[in-house]
Amino acid sequence: MDLKIIYICSSLLLLVSCSSSGDNVKPGTPETPEVAGENLFIMHCAACHGDDGKLGASGAKDLTASRLGDAALTKIITEGKNGMPPMKELLGNNENIQLVINHVKKLRH
Ligand code: HEC
Repeated sequence: MDLKIIYICSSLLLLVSCSSSGDNVKPGTPETPEVAGENLFIMHCAACHGDDGKLGASGAKDLTASRLGDAALTKIITEGKNGMPPMKELLGNNENIQLVINHVKKLRH
């Protein structure tokens, strides 16, 4: 096979593997509020709570078993508690906090 063909083939392969790699949200992709809340949760909370809320790393509570109301959720997310750091700065604004709260409640049984 001549080198040019190999080059074309491998760059095609590269293209295909890149464009199909994962379901990462690309900048500019329209997000539903549900997806936005889930992404925020995965980014800022899943390290301790796990994607499904059950991980319990560093003493984190199982969120599927949590029954806190909106006010208590807002408080713990904003101010933190014991091993949980305050998340207000990371989440940036009240709208994001509300999106995360909605996601947390969706994780419950
Ligand atoms: C560094 C680890 C860590 C991160 C990151 C973290 N948490 Fe926590 N979380 C904890 C720990 C530890 C507790 C238990 C606090 C306690 O009551 O002593 C907790 C408790 C909670 C509770 C209370 C559950 C209950 O019923 O008492 C909620 C709700 C919660 N976290 C939500 C979140 C959300 C939402 C995020 C992301 C914005 C988040 N956490 C990020 C460690 C973490």
